[in-house]
Amino acid sequence: MEKVELTGVPETMLQTLHARAQYTLSHPQLLSDPQAVELVSRIDYDFTAARSDQLMSFGTAARTLLFDDLVRDFIARHPGCTVVNVGCGLDTRFHRVDDGKTRWYDLDLPQVIDVRRRLIAPVDRVRTIAASAMDPRWPGEVEVTGEVLVVVEGLTMYLSSDDLRILMGIIHDSFPGATALVEVMAPLFQRFGREKSVVRSGARFTYGCRNGKEFCRTVAPGFRAERDVRLSEGMRRIQPRSWLITWFPLFRMIEQKILVLTARPPADG
Ligand SMILES: C[S@@+](CC[C@H](N)C(=O)[O-])C[C@H]1O[C@@H](n2cnc3c(N)ncnc32)[C@H](O)[C@@H]1O
Repeated sequence: MEKVELTGVPETMLQTLHARAQYTLSHPQLLSDPQAVELVSRIDYDFTAARSDQLMSFGTAARTLLFDDLVRDFIARHPGCTVVNVGCGLDTRFHRVDDGKTRWYDLDLPQVIDVRRRLIAPVDRVRTIAASAMDPRWPGEVEVTGEVLVVVEGLTMYLSSDDLRILMGIIHDSFPGATALVEVMAPLFQRFGREKSVVRSGARFTYGCRNGKEFCRTVAPGFRAERDVRLSEGMRRIQPRSWLITWFPLFRMIEQKILVLTARPPADG
């Protein structure tokens, strides 16, 4: 067993890892993440809060299905591309979507990458980067081949607008023309919503945004909002009857979204 002692936002990656393991066991026809199951069994950590937080685990499973499909689709359209997973935690998406040609980078804070390196054996075509997402030096560690996709899952809600402006500026300036998949929490949920496993870790939701247009206008001026993918699309795949809830206008005001954005090259002159 590997003891993992993290607090605050880094600890939340253990909750989302547990959610993927839980849904792999309960919904194997939808989500297959045997590595998450194996990791949970090897980590010495009290997963009680994650186990009982159905809101968090349902949301994580739903977004995992959507992100996996979006990344698979990008890879299929751009063979030999480069993917950077920002705030990766212990996610092993590479193994769920790899086509044998993709070059992959998993980035997280040094204390999380340290845990990751202790638990996950290195694989060809995957590198880890120990850095803050807002450190402008990390793109220097990325060797770009083909098109670039940047994934930001489960992170923006813990940052500030200023942090996001920095992060999106780094992506924009380092990877012109890149596509970014950015998960955002609705402002109403950010303010009033609570996920008990997140509360227990001491992390707080600090950022919310309504849609891709607002995101680009406020924190990502160099990007174009291509489309917004609603979390309810993933929820309905897991729980078909959830359309009843997701149909209500109030639900639309609190649901998370994955924003599909493209970095426009800087204007000439
Ligand atoms: C909720 S977890 C999500 C992990 C993973 N994306 C997933 O879905 O399982 C949030 C992650 O963001 C990471 N994180 C927080 N602040 C960060 C920063 N400034 N730079 C990079 N990663 C950060 C945390 O360490 C943690 O792994």
